[in-house]
Parts: sequence; C-alpha cells; structure tokens
Amino acid sequence: MIKIAPSILNCEFTNLKELISLVEKAGVDMLHLDIMDGHFVPNISFGPQVVKSIKKITKLPLDVHLMIENPQEFISVFAHAGARIITVSKETCINLGEQIEAIMKERLEVGVALNPQTPVESLLNYLDQINMVLLMTVEPGFGGQKFISSVLPKIAYLRDYISKNRLTVDIQVDGGIDLNTARSAIENGANILVAGEYIFGSPDPRKAIADLRKVCALSEKKSAGK
Ligand code: DX5
Ligand code: ZN
Repeated sequence: MIKIAPSILNCEFTNLKELISLVEKAGVDMLHLDIMDGHFVPNISFGPQVVKSIKKITKLPLDVHLMIENPQEFISVFAHAGARIITVSKETCINLGEQIEAIMKERLEVGVALNPQTPVESLLNYLDQINMVLLMTVEPGFGGQKFISSVLPKIAYLRDYISKNRLTVDIQVDGGIDLNTARSAIENGANILVAGEYIFGSPDPRKAIADLRKVCALSEKKSAGK
C-alpha cells in the first residue's frame, strides 16, 4: 500500500491548523516536516517548537526530515516534540551507525536520506537496521523544484536489493512529486510519496490527494503485474 506524506514546507503558515486538518480528513498517511538549518541546506524552516504544536492538533504520525548539520544534537529534542519517524541526511552523519542507534533508543522509526548524487550502495550495510530510505528527488532545501529523473534507477536498484534480501524497508521519495512523477517513482519501487507543492499549491488539495490516490492504485497494480 502506497503512503502519502504531505510536506508543509511551503504552506501558508497562518492557515496551518486548517490545512493540516484538511489533509488529515482527506486520508493522508503521515505529515512530512522538513527541518532546515541554513548550513546543510541554503534555507531555514522551523524547529522543535513548531513540531510540538503540530503534534497537539493532529493524530497523523509526524515524519521528521532533518536537513541539519550535527543531527545527533537534536534527535532527542525532536523525539520529545512528537516525531514518529526521524530521518537523518546521510551526508551530515560522521558516524551513521551512532545516529541510527540514537533514533532507535528513542523507540522511533529510523529513516536515512540520500541526496540525489549520493550512491545508494553507501547505505546497503545499514538496511537491516533502518525502517525507511528517503531518496531525495530534488536537491534538498526548497519546495516546488523539478523532479530529478536520474534518481529513478536508484529507486529500482534499491527496491530490487530489498526484495532479494527479504528486508522490510520503505522507500520514500521527496521532491517534485506530482501525478506523473509519482507514477514513475512507484513503478520503480517507491512506496511513500512526499508531496508539498502538488498538494498545498493546488486550488483544491482534497481533490489533489484523491487524484494522487488513484494514480497510486493504478501504478501499484501495474508494478505488481511486472
Ligand atoms: C526539500 C524537502 C521536500 C520538499 C517537497 O528539501 O525535503 O520535502 O518540501 O516539496 P515539493 O513536493 O514541493 O517538491
Ligand atoms: Zn523532505
């Protein structure tokens, strides 16, 4: 079953409560929260205080995507703010094993993100310890960018490796997801779609989610028949 994770990065924050309630009612699976520090990525978003406030107004699992240097200093802070999944960017981890352990110690699901240029092979030894690989399909930092389709073979390679080794690891794609790119990502093996601009930039986010669900169902059927 494909999961949909709206990213609130480019939301109109004065309407955040209404927008979260809208996507929750539309049946999305989790909320994707992009944390940016202005160092690892050239943008600043929001921090644990905002995550804590969001936790109070939704029952959706909070999927916290850390795009920050020194993630080890913040894992427990975001755990206490209400995260269900914490994803660290591999490029920021001097010792990835330690970060994975720190997230597990908080009894949360572990995600590891790879930038578009980072080879997936660098993560294979860790797959039995993590719940999700986030494959960035844009350069991290901003919402509303164009999907980088050269990441598709990475998705396919990883899905193949996961099935051959009988692992249970989700593949999340993040950046530039719309109806077309969602289809390609799913057909190559992704099962969690992050979508910001496609949902919140739409005049009718409810319909955008319903349309995306239809594409998910069709593409899933197609890849199951392969
Ligand atoms: C980019 C973030 C994404 C982004 C997705 O660094 O990780 O989550 O907000 O937004 P769209 O769907 O607009 O590309
Ligand atoms: Zn993200």
